[in-house]
Amino acid sequence: MTDAREKLFALTGGWQTACAVLAASELDLFTEIVKRGSATADELARELELDLQGTTYLLAALSSLNLIEKTGGAFRVVDEYVPYLDSRSPETITPMLRHQANCLRNWAQLAWTVKSGVPIPSTCGVNDAFVEFQDFILAMDVIAKQIAPVMAQKLQDAGLLNFKRMLDLGGASGTYSFAFLEKNPNPDAKSVLFDRPAALEEAKIKAANSPFGDRLEYCPGDFYVDPYPTDVDFVWISAIIHQQGDDETEKMFRRSFEALRPGGRVGVRDVYINDNFTGPKPAAFFGLNMLVRRKDGKVYNAKETIALLTKVGFQNARLALPADDMSAVIVAEKP
Ligand SMILES: C[S@@+](CC[C@H](N)C(=O)[O-])C[C@H]1O[C@@H](n2cnc3c(N)ncnc32)[C@H](O)[C@@H]1O
Repeated sequence: MTDAREKLFALTGGWQTACAVLAASELDLFTEIVKRGSATADELARELELDLQGTTYLLAALSSLNLIEKTGGAFRVVDEYVPYLDSRSPETITPMLRHQANCLRNWAQLAWTVKSGVPIPSTCGVNDAFVEFQDFILAMDVIAKQIAPVMAQKLQDAGLLNFKRMLDLGGASGTYSFAFLEKNPNPDAKSVLFDRPAALEEAKIKAANSPFGDRLEYCPGDFYVDPYPTDVDFVWISAIIHQQGDDETEKMFRRSFEALRPGGRVGVRDVYINDNFTGPKPAAFFGLNMLVRRKDGKVYNAKETIALLTKVGFQNARLALPADDMSAVIVAEKP
């Protein structure tokens, strides 16, 4: 085989293993095995209401990947994976795996979307829409838990994290708010989480176990129609603008500007594509993700984002934290 031929097979070969692991996560198969210590295909099929042949084949595939191992007739999850695959564990990545399974249903029809220009009509997984939404919110937390503390430190080091009252627009379960309150030198700083009611329920569960929980305020609603909380000096817009086109983003920036006190600041975290529209890879692939998932989604370029902020009145808009992935942050100030 030539190098190029091998590379092409390597580039396209991961989808079957991904499907197997994601399906097991959607079905919560790993958790059920961990709960029991070890379990047979029969026991798992009965408990989770699965087809026995399907379960047997999936377990064989997962064994071949060395994620589970079989002794006698029973399977156990290999120790090193347990904290990440058991959905009850604080370190679990299960919500992100389930969210990826939901994305995969759209990605599977990428050619159709590129041809038609619209995402495929939504197809259902094994879980209902409410569980899909919860998984999405907790998937954001899986990622943000790693990024937010580092980002908070960088913003603090740059003198950009000294707010008194922050608005976390589409703040999900509050992961950034918690990290920013922790690093903010102002001990009375507060954060207002503005999100869908179901997302805020997840935030309340986290708040109950956080030393910063009593410094959160909740604003349930739809940020396209409901008024923004005012009297804030920092608006945090994290992983939001890519779900909408320029008009909505301009409106969002204008409404943020109006909500801010004079001298207040906006922070826009996202993944930005280069001027030539050729990368970096996380941005190029995120563009495809938006294409297949949302009719109005897009991948922004840092310059156009800065231009939109400037257009609504912000000053000194700049890429304060550059990054190739979804850790890039643009900041700007209201005069
Ligand atoms: C990609 S997540 C980002 C979550 C969080 N900001 C982060 O960076 O981890 C988008 C968030 O925006 C919220 N959201 C999307 N559309 C919304 C709307 N119209 N009104 C309120 N919240 C919305 C979603 O519920 C979700 O929590």
